[in-house]
Amino acid sequence: MRKNIVAGNWKMNTTVPEGVKLAKDVNKALEGKEVNCDVIICVPFTHLVPVNDVIDADKLGLGAENCADHRSGAYTGEVSAPMVASTGAKYVILGHSERRQYYGETSETLKEKVALALENGLTPIFCIGEVLEQREDGSYLDVVKKQIEDALFNLSAEDFSKLILAYEPVWAIGTGKTATDDQAQEMHAFIRKTIEDKYGKEVAENTSILYGGSCKPSNAKALFAKPDVDGGLIGGASLDAESFMGIVTAF
Ligand code: PGA
Repeated sequence: MRKNIVAGNWKMNTTVPEGVKLAKDVNKALEGKEVNCDVIICVPFTHLVPVNDVIDADKLGLGAENCADHRSGAYTGEVSAPMVASTGAKYVILGHSERRQYYGETSETLKEKVALALENGLTPIFCIGEVLEQREDGSYLDVVKKQIEDALFNLSAEDFSKLILAYEPVWAIGTGKTATDDQAQEMHAFIRKTIEDKYGKEVAENTSILYGGSCKPSNAKALFAKPDVDGGLIGGASLDAESFMGIVTAF
């Protein structure tokens, strides 16, 4: 059975002390609470070690927001998958649209990142999604299918089973404009079918597919009620413990 997951993506927000406080607040809110999903926070590299020190790993998973496409060496400013893993983090967001758009990430570099993440025991939260123009010209299903095929279909079924996918329509990220629950369901069912055609029904049924893009407490319930929406990747609303918990408890 696939897992329900709510993951925060803090992006480039909070200083270390602010981030530690936010992590503590989320951790505290989860204390003694039964929730119906796995809860993860993905934080800036600088925050991984101090945040890992203040959270209960049984209740709250920790992830990075990116990792390098090389193992080690002369890549000034990069942070490798082994480095991320050595902080205690268990997850890494890869292929976020902001990385594709502003930092030129391609399916080729993402393939390397996914391989290195898996090799180091990290679970990739792999993002896919179309831009507004592709939504409007009707090519959005093909676009997302190609993103999956190009970056992930080189994986064995065993490795593919280790991934979490996140469908994030770029036009919905940080815009306040959420995909409707029916739009999300259409895409999630399509993604699952795409996985099934390549890896079979069992792998497809066991893959968690999260929705991301202006997900908030007020719309999370309707989105998560859809059969193929297995949770959310949450940007803005994850920066406040109360609103993040409002989404966690939507399950
Ligand atoms: P948002 O971001 O919730 O602020 O729209 C989601 C994401 O980019 O992961």
